[in-house]
Amino acid sequence: MAVRRPLIAGNWKMHCARPEAERLLLALKGQIADLTDREVVVAPPFTALETAGRVLAGSSIRLGAQNLHWEPQGAFTGEVSGAMLKELGCSHVIVGHSERRQYFAETDEQVARKVKAAQREGLIPIMCVGETLEERERGDTLGVIRRQTQAGLQGQAKDAIALLVIAYEPVWAIGTGRTATPEQAQEVHTAIRATLAALTDQATAAAVRILYGGSVKADNVDALMAQADIDGALVGGASLQAEAFARIVQFR
Ligand code: PGA
Repeated sequence: MAVRRPLIAGNWKMHCARPEAERLLLALKGQIADLTDREVVVAPPFTALETAGRVLAGSSIRLGAQNLHWEPQGAFTGEVSGAMLKELGCSHVIVGHSERRQYFAETDEQVARKVKAAQREGLIPIMCVGETLEERERGDTLGVIRRQTQAGLQGQAKDAIALLVIAYEPVWAIGTGRTATPEQAQEVHTAIRATLAALTDQATAAAVRILYGGSVKADNVDALMAQADIDGALVGGASLQAEAFARIVQFR
């Protein structure tokens, strides 16, 4: 079995102007020792990336962005390219978050283009998939997840797939305080890995990290991380509190 290094990522969403970002990161740096057995990424809003990069210089906490455009440059008012993120010191970028799909009408096809654009710039995409409550209640969870995973990785080579990160985030668990049970999450993670194996091969699928996201907190992270196919967490609300996020990072 492949050894997958756990990854905990904090998605700050539209929170933290620069002074708050600096305060939060200084507190985090004080609480998270240099860890070698796990990776930590924070994804502040675009406007705080430069500040965050400066505060994190020399620490093992890595920098991510929350979105990117698929073109390297051009007449796309209001958009930011992967090259721009790379230049600010980002190593990761979240792609296809359900809030982007829901509120900004992002399609699977756009997600696929963004994943490719990120890889072209040497950024690691954290590609999000997840079903709505209605889809779950209809019994369509695994169908939706398979479709989103396949569509987002359309036309990808095996070695590119091996390097990316997938985040399973049930829409009904995001920001609601209602987390998937470890067993519900594990069931979907297994289905994602099987989908990856069908697109590539067993060894490649076994190398890909699959994060769980949706109301991950200090008090539920340990049980989630104990599941065989949960390789980390994408944390929203709790990533805005240094103490809570540090405890999540130090899951046991
Ligand atoms: P949450 O958000 O932890 O606040 O539920 C997770 C996410 O949207 O990435």
